[in-house]
Amino acid sequence: MTALAALDDVIELEVETDPGDVLHYNLKNLCSALDITDPTRVAVDTDGLRRALITIYPSNPLAVVRAATRQDLTMDRWGRITIGYHHNGKPCKKRLFDPITGSAQRFLLFGTTGAGKSRAVQQDLIAEKINGICSFLCDLKEGQSVPEAKTQVALYGDSQEMAILLLIAAVNVAHARMKRYSRMGRNSFVLGEDPLLHVTLDEVNRLLEKGAPYRAIATRLIKELGRTGRSVGVGIRLAAQASHLEELGGSDTLRAMMKEGEVVLLRWSSSIMKQLVADGLLPTGEQLLPIPKNLAKKVLRSQFDAAWEDDLDEGAPGTQGMAYHLSSDNPTSQMRHLRVGSIAPTRGLDPEILALYGDEPPTELGEADGEAAGDVWAYRHDPDMLRALCEAFREEFLLSQQGGKSGGGVDLDELDDDGPAPARPTTISDRIVAAMREAEGPVGAEEILDLVNADGGKEVKLGPVRNQLKPLADKGRIARVGHGLYAPAH
Ligand SMILES: Nc1ncnc2c1ncn2[C@@H]1O[C@H](COP(=O)(O)OP(=O)(O)O)[C@@H](O)[C@H]1O
Ligand SMILES: [Mg+2]
Repeated sequence: MTALAALDDVIELEVETDPGDVLHYNLKNLCSALDITDPTRVAVDTDGLRRALITIYPSNPLAVVRAATRQDLTMDRWGRITIGYHHNGKPCKKRLFDPITGSAQRFLLFGTTGAGKSRAVQQDLIAEKINGICSFLCDLKEGQSVPEAKTQVALYGDSQEMAILLLIAAVNVAHARMKRYSRMGRNSFVLGEDPLLHVTLDEVNRLLEKGAPYRAIATRLIKELGRTGRSVGVGIRLAAQASHLEELGGSDTLRAMMKEGEVVLLRWSSSIMKQLVADGLLPTGEQLLPIPKNLAKKVLRSQFDAAWEDDLDEGAPGTQGMAYHLSSDNPTSQMRHLRVGSIAPTRGLDPEILALYGDEPPTELGEADGEAAGDVWAYRHDPDMLRALCEAFREEFLLSQQGGKSGGGVDLDELDDDGPAPARPTTISDRIVAAMREAEGPVGAEEILDLVNADGGKEVKLGPVRNQLKPLADKGRIARVGHGLYAPAH
């Protein structure tokens, strides 16, 4: 121990290991050494090497948080808003926009059911409205997750079809902006003319999980937005309950997004944590104290104790909204989101949430953007038309599954999708054959690799793909049409 400080009931220990050692700790052992039975009273922040600050609180410092205000959710000059705070009272900031590079952001929220994803989404949407960002929202839980948001965003949907139509519209806006900006000789986005456009998909696992009807096309659209949206002011936010990244359209879809995006991890299931470490999102050796379901204290009670049955865990406060902001400067320091609306269920819409949104109308797209966004934007105030567009898309999609391929009323461009086969090929050779059928003309190994990796399955490398080509051609499953060029066999 190198220093000790205390103020009121809060004690802070500074500790370090010997030079050459890396500090490791186990929270349970530490609590045992300090004779503390409630581990949520203890916070450990390390510098990743030799030093750590151990803070001991009289009770969990994040047990109660204050309500969010519109002030919290107004961007500062670095494009950040306050979403909550850490155990030491330090505000936790999330970047909605990067004014220095002009980059639109990508946002990811992970957590199990009830962890507080949708409220965090709601908090972001409120911030978008306050800051003049145009929001497209699809609530894939049939509109149940963020009911207050429905009339507070520029474009709203609650079905899988609408999610796709929203994504297509946003991709078209991004593409049109690219063309428009390059004509103007601009290479980045500046706030002030076109608004930022953010697409939010809550419960996106429903769209991306294996067997979901639009998994493949959704994956491609999301990738495309992640790729092209950033420099033209089009961002994307995904909130998902997932135990495995594979459930979200294949891990490479999200890996790049996660590395550069604003990532918030709420209460999780165990397997996702291993993946985050494996994917390099969490430094190995760093540990995140798991977030318990509630803050019930473990008390040993004798069965002969008369008061035994009185206080089961019933009244223990929940941990909803507790999280780690993995992309921040303090990825391993637990934070808690500000309170957004009532914790207890409300009948109907939550007045507190509506008040945060405010009375002003949501920011809309400009004329050129609106045109690029197409029908779904033109008919945004007409629920019957939107339903008809969804129905048309569904039918068109089913038809394209059966062989015909056209976007019919929906501008799918080159994003027109092969759609998920009901039984997805899993071996590399089957995936190659399936991918080749989608190729327009003869293709080389690298294009084949791209096609295979776009099918939503496990990522493969060039070597294994290349190795399969000759045997497949020998068997007549594909045809070799030139040096290093292959075409589907008839
Ligand atoms: N920031 C928050 N402020 C107030 N209540 C919250 C907050 N986060 C979560 N809650 C409470 O927890 C419940 C579940 O949160 P929700 O966001 O719907 O979880 P998820 O979307 O992860 O399933 C909410 O209905 C609400 O009662
Ligand atoms: Mg939810």
